Amino acid sequence: MGASVFVSGAAGAVGSMAGQFAALAGAKRVVGSAGSVEKTKYLVDELGYDAAFNYKDGPVLQQLQSAFPEGLDIFFDNVGSDHLAAAVEVLNDFGRVALCGTISAYNASEHRAVPVNAFKIVTKRLRMQGFIAFDHEDLRKDFDSRVGAWLENGQLAYRETVSQEIEAVPAAFTGMLTGANTGKAIIRLADDQA
Ligand SMILES: NC(=O)c1ccc[n+]([C@@H]2O[C@H](COP(=O)([O-])OP(=O)(O)OC[C@H]3O[C@@H](n4cnc5c(N)ncnc54)[C@H](OP(=O)(O)O)[C@@H]3O)[C@@H](O)[C@H]2O)c1
Repeated sequence: MGASVFVSGAAGAVGSMAGQFAALAGAKRVVGSAGSVEKTKYLVDELGYDAAFNYKDGPVLQQLQSAFPEGLDIFFDNVGSDHLAAAVEVLNDFGRVALCGTISAYNASEHRAVPVNAFKIVTKRLRMQGFIAFDHEDLRKDFDSRVGAWLENGQLAYRETVSQEIEAVPAAFTGMLTGANTGKAIIRLADDQA
């Protein structure tokens, strides 16, 4: 059987793809977190997540424990802080974490470190790997053909939040940090037909 997978920041550009990729790769259960009821509904109804929770509804740890009563195998983290600390508690032995981003810290006016239980990382033999997408340019051809085929076959759903013109950049950027976007945040600088 496949792995159980949790994706934080799941309704964003990266997260919405990560959850669908996991399902297409054979995960047995994919759960996402996002910051509104509309977004959690989007995850389940449109992206095919098995379940989703709103991290603003209560402590992430409790919601994650309810979502994975049999424990978690893989965590794809876009958020950091409370999400990462909770996942360390819920991950099964030999669980794996792909550290993609820590968006909860980017716009914080004061640093709010959430302690991660390092003892559990040791005793559960967890593996955590940060990565930068550009490090993996060698895989681009494989990515393009695999993901291109999924897109052509209609196996991937996505949304874009499009703003118009360069003047929209500041609001669109800060909106992305506060959850105004669903899917990829895009600024359209000129009409496609021009
Ligand atoms: N490693 C790499 O190579 C790489 C490449 C690209 C992006 N990234 C990282 O991947 C993550 C997602 O990037 P993206 O471009 O796809 O952005 P995005 O997810 O489309 O937009 C950011 C989302 O983060 C959520 N968010 C903001 N503050 C939060 C908080 N305190 N706690 C939880 N969620 C919060 C908001 O959604 P809600 O409404 O759900 O709160 C917001 O819509 C970022 O951390 C980014 O730095 C990494």
